[in-house]
Amino acid sequence: MRRNPSVARVIDAAKRRLRRMLPSEASARALAAQAPGRRSGPADPAFAHILAPGVEVLRDGPIIVDRDWSPAGVTGQFTDDAATYHQRYFERLDFTHLIDYCLTLAQIDRARPCRVLDIGSGSGASVFAACRLLPQAEIVASDISPQLLRMLAGFVDSRDELRGRITTFCFDLHRKFFRPQTFDLVIGAAILHHLLDPRAALANVAAALKPGGRIVLVEPLESGSLMLVAMFARVLTVLGQSGAGEGPLARLMRAMRLDIQSRLGPPVEKPWTRELDDKWVFDTPYLERLAAELGLSRVDVYPAQPDLSQVYENAFTSLLADSGLAAIEVPQAVQDSVRMFDRGIGEDLKRELCPTGVIVFTR
Ligand SMILES: C[S@@+](CC[C@H](N)C(=O)[O-])C[C@H]1O[C@@H](n2cnc3c(N)ncnc32)[C@H](O)[C@@H]1O
Repeated sequence: MRRNPSVARVIDAAKRRLRRMLPSEASARALAAQAPGRRSGPADPAFAHILAPGVEVLRDGPIIVDRDWSPAGVTGQFTDDAATYHQRYFERLDFTHLIDYCLTLAQIDRARPCRVLDIGSGSGASVFAACRLLPQAEIVASDISPQLLRMLAGFVDSRDELRGRITTFCFDLHRKFFRPQTFDLVIGAAILHHLLDPRAALANVAAALKPGGRIVLVEPLESGSLMLVAMFARVLTVLGQSGAGEGPLARLMRAMRLDIQSRLGPPVEKPWTRELDDKWVFDTPYLERLAAELGLSRVDVYPAQPDLSQVYENAFTSLLADSGLAAIEVPQAVQDSVRMFDRGIGEDLKRELCPTGVIVFTR
């Protein structure tokens, strides 16, 4: 019997998520095979003024690659499957509103010439938004994935308004790559929770920031993620009561609960962490401790959307879209149970229990 395509998609998505939680020798071997060791060829001296002492880079077509680049710790969705990742997210997401909101929260003077580092740039959604919103800025895009950066560089090359404004560096954020006090602003849209050691990476980024500079990150928050765990449990109960407890939506709810549960607590590596694309959810006490340890004078955490009236329903809808289930028919009883969370929780509490946050560190 042929599987309904949307059923097949969700089963595959759920399987992929579950598979990522189990150690896979094949994926470890595939990543190790990509590590080129020390790359040969003449170093490019053009960027010595911003690179940390000892760091050497090589030109690889339109991107600039760390001579010691290695893809350790990054999962295949950003490297081997980069084209699928780009197609799934880049076309669908316009980050202009999000980055605009981030710049407002961080009180950035948009008219001032400045040097901006975007971390975990992927194929560039946040970079292009920053470029539009900060017309005087020199922008450095960065990522560990050469595949995604090549897509970014290709797009830059195709647009008159972008050409010449963005430089792309391929390196691992766990390495000290830039000179101290090089950047006025660091932007990271969904990067910290992908890193094996967020503290080490943030220490490198903080050191590269000028005094008074800001690091603005968009990341999943623990308290709001726990609300999603509770909401998905409620949806599962409702689906079970209507006889749909083994259907695609129920499978997705189970997979997502497991996904979030496997990421709770302080970011300390567990046996399954390397296999997860999304490795952590963050809480404010952890972020405050991090700021103090890294010499950052303050950290402020805000909900990632100004209008919280449908924050849980929006999270549920985006999850369906991310899993290829946008077109699935959601039973009325499920919709009601999702809306119950939005109706029942007041605005003030929602600010504490928002699944995604904008985190602003000030040096
Ligand atoms: C969710 S994507 C971010 C998307 C991007 N900010 C955008 O605007 O489209 C996370 C990115 O982090 C990158 N990444 C993962 N581990 C990394 C590391 N150790 N160093 C640098 N980048 C890394 C991935 O390759 C991926 O492009």
